[in-house]
This record gives sequence, structure tokens and C-alpha cells, in this order.
Amino acid sequence: MPQHAGLNRRNFLKSAGLTALAGAVGTSVAGTAAAADIKPYLINGRYDFDTVYSRVGSDSVKFDSQIAKFGNKLKVGMGIADTDFRTAPCIGEAMAERLQHENWGYLSGEAMATYREVIAEWNHRRYGLDVDPTSLQIATGVHPGLIAAIQTYSPPGSKVLLMTPTYNGFYSDLRNTRTLENESEMVFENGQYSVDWDDLEARMTPDTHTMLLCNPQNPTGNVWSEEELLRIGELCLKHQVVVLSDEIHMDLVRPGHKITPFAALPDKDIVNNSLSFRAITKTFSIPASKNAYWYSTNSVMLERVKKNHSAGINTLGVVANTAAYQQGADWLDQLLVYLDGNHQFVEDYIKDNMPEVGHTKSQGTFLNWLHFDGIMEAAGVVAKSKASKMSDKPMSEAQAFEAWLVDNSGIQLNAGDSYGKGGERCMRMNIGCSRQVLNTALSGIKEAIRSI
Ligand SMILES: Cc1ncc(COP(=O)(O)O)c(C=O)c1O
Repeated sequence: MPQHAGLNRRNFLKSAGLTALAGAVGTSVAGTAAAADIKPYLINGRYDFDTVYSRVGSDSVKFDSQIAKFGNKLKVGMGIADTDFRTAPCIGEAMAERLQHENWGYLSGEAMATYREVIAEWNHRRYGLDVDPTSLQIATGVHPGLIAAIQTYSPPGSKVLLMTPTYNGFYSDLRNTRTLENESEMVFENGQYSVDWDDLEARMTPDTHTMLLCNPQNPTGNVWSEEELLRIGELCLKHQVVVLSDEIHMDLVRPGHKITPFAALPDKDIVNNSLSFRAITKTFSIPASKNAYWYSTNSVMLERVKKNHSAGINTLGVVANTAAYQQGADWLDQLLVYLDGNHQFVEDYIKDNMPEVGHTKSQGTFLNWLHFDGIMEAAGVVAKSKASKMSDKPMSEAQAFEAWLVDNSGIQLNAGDSYGKGGERCMRMNIGCSRQVLNTALSGIKEAIRSI
């Protein structure tokens, strides 16, 4: 029976993985599970993001897929971009309530209209952004909207502009739309990435009709300023390139930085040359609830892209996201403080313990972008990658380093070369986890590097 097979597999992974994670943070298997089960999540108005919450055995990509790939060597998955935190209690409560009704038929137009209002209210309350609810296009993720927009403006064979290193999922969108990447590599100086303005403009060629902007930027953590966005917007307008602004990480900005949604720029023409794509699924640890939205202030663009967009929705996703939009603000505010602490922890740890690792100072997201140039060379993965090119399993340098790191520390980071030009000797580390796990991961990386 398929369902029995699934259950067995879950049980197997549960014990295998809990051992890995518990060992990794220095607690017993029972201790890890019990702590998450028994300890109240909310104590004196504070959410406990610190107690390790194991996701092993829940069919997660971040842990279970890595265990399947690397076996028992895997101690901690620090790769795929979702967080390990228990989500805001209001979400589970709303879902549990909806489960009382045992029918899952199609949602009405009225329900969707209410959902659009809820999204618009969140944008207004949290960012002072006025969005026309009727312009919001509900989608099953950011990707379907992006694909529809690329299909509308970039014919197969034409180019899409990217500032790299950038979110690797964009490359799948290009494959889906039979378009080609036009990569403007950013400049890395003093731990910070910035736009190469001359290169960016030079790439706005007549066969480049769209630009995939990532704000904040995954994986480098840039939270683009109003000035930078205006300059990008001006160039795009001048060269007739439509801006597709992916703002899925916009809720996750560190103190001292301010998110500027592209549609909030103080230039109507620039804004009208753009579409915005958002979700709060990453924010609230519910990305598999498949809920996102996109819109444009330009009604012509909106109508054109709608024709290529196959809208879809799932009931529990709407319930979960509605609860988050309406009742999750306090949880998110506390999460931002914890994530900022994690970012600081990584910065300090690297400075004090492994200064040879190049660190990018993130302004937002729960991601960290690390440079391992000399270390990859010293670990022998550059030579290994070269040799593998002749085999039936060619590996990039970063992929070889990913495997080396798991072998030598049990810590899995994402290979940087999938994030485009400039990522070849980098790795992405997801820090959306308990600080105990983060400490374990960093110690593991440090020890592995010391062993070279
Ligand atoms: C910048 C960015 N856009 C989109 C996505 C995926 O969005 P969705 O799951 O809503 O399609 C991710 C996931 O990592 C991302 O980082």
C-alpha cells in the first residue's frame, strides 16, 4: 500500500534524522523531541525560537532529502530556503478550525475577494503601501506569476536580465520560458555586493525585454535602497525593459535597513513599468502552502500578463496565510529580532574563528553568502571537479565542496554556482534555525577547514 510505505519511510527517517540532529546539537534524541513537544512556545509574551524543532521525518527537503542524498553523514541541512521555526500559533489554530469542516470544494469568488482585502490591509498596515485589492492576482507561488510575465514580454530565445549572484530558481523560470540569461555580475567589495552600473546598462540590449530583480536579494542579502531602485528603474524605462520585482523576502529585513517595494517608488512612470511578486510564505515558515500574489499599477500590463497566468489556490493555504496576515505581526516582529541575532552571530563567529572565509554582510533575508575561494583550492575540490569533467558524473567546484563539507563535517550548504556568475566559489547558508543549530553548523565548518 503506498500510504503504508510512506508511513514506514517517515518513521525510518524520523529515527535516523533525529539522531543526526540531536547529536549535532548535543542533546539526546528523546530530549530534542520532548523539548519541542512539551515546552510552551509562548512564554511571557515571548516566542521560543531557540529550542531546536526537528523537522526530520516530515518529508522536508532541507533535512530528509539531504539524508536521502548524503546518508548518515548528514548532521544539519543548512540549504533550501525555508526556516526550521514552528510557525505562528495563529496559523495552526486557524487550520485546525477549518479541518472541522470536512469538504474541500472550490473557493468562491467572494472568498477570494476577502483574501485580496486581507493582503491589501497587511501591505497598508506594515508598509504604508496602498495596493488596489482588485489588482491582486492570487497565485500558487511566486514562480507561476514570474513565468507568466516572462512569457508575456520575453519571447523564446530572447534574454532576461539578472544581477548575479541571484536566486537560482530564476534559471528554472528561464528554462520554462525558453529564454536566456543575461547576467550582470555584481561587484563584491568589503563584504558587500553592489550593482555594476555600466555593465547593467550595457546589457539592456534590444533582445532583453525583462529584468528579474530580487529585492531583497537572495542570496547576497542586499536590501536595495530607494536610490538604487530608482536608478535601476530609470535605466529599464530608457531601454524598454520591464522590471519584474520578486519581493518574497521583503518582510525579512534587518534593523537599520528599510525595504522599498518597487511599486512604492516615487516615480509613476518607473512604477508603471513594473510588476511585483510577493508572498508571506517564507516569512511564516509555510512555503508549501503555495500562496503568493502579483500585481501591477499598470492596468495594461496587468491584463496582458493575466492572459498567460493560470491562477490556482488551495483552501488550507488561504486559511494559513489569512491567519498570518491578520494575526502574525507580533510573531514576525520577534522573529526579526532573533534572525538579526543569528546574522550577528555568524558575522562574529567568522571574524573570530575562520577569517579566511569571506563573509557577506546581509541586510535582510535568512540567508548568508560565504566565499570559500582559497579553501576550495586547499581542500582539493578544484582538482576533483576538474577530474570529474571526464567522468559520467561531472561536478562543479562548489558541488564538489558541498560533498566535501558533508563528508568532513556533516553540514550541508548550497553550492554557489547555481546562483549564476560570481557564485562559483561561494556557498549559501540558511540561518533560519535555532542558534544552537547554527553554532553546530559553524563549528563543524570550522573544524573541517582546520583539518585541511
Ligand atoms: C527570491 C525567491 N523567489 C521565489 C522563491 C520561491 O517562491 P514560491 O515558492 O512562492 O514559488 C524563492 C524561494 O526560495 C526565492 O528565494
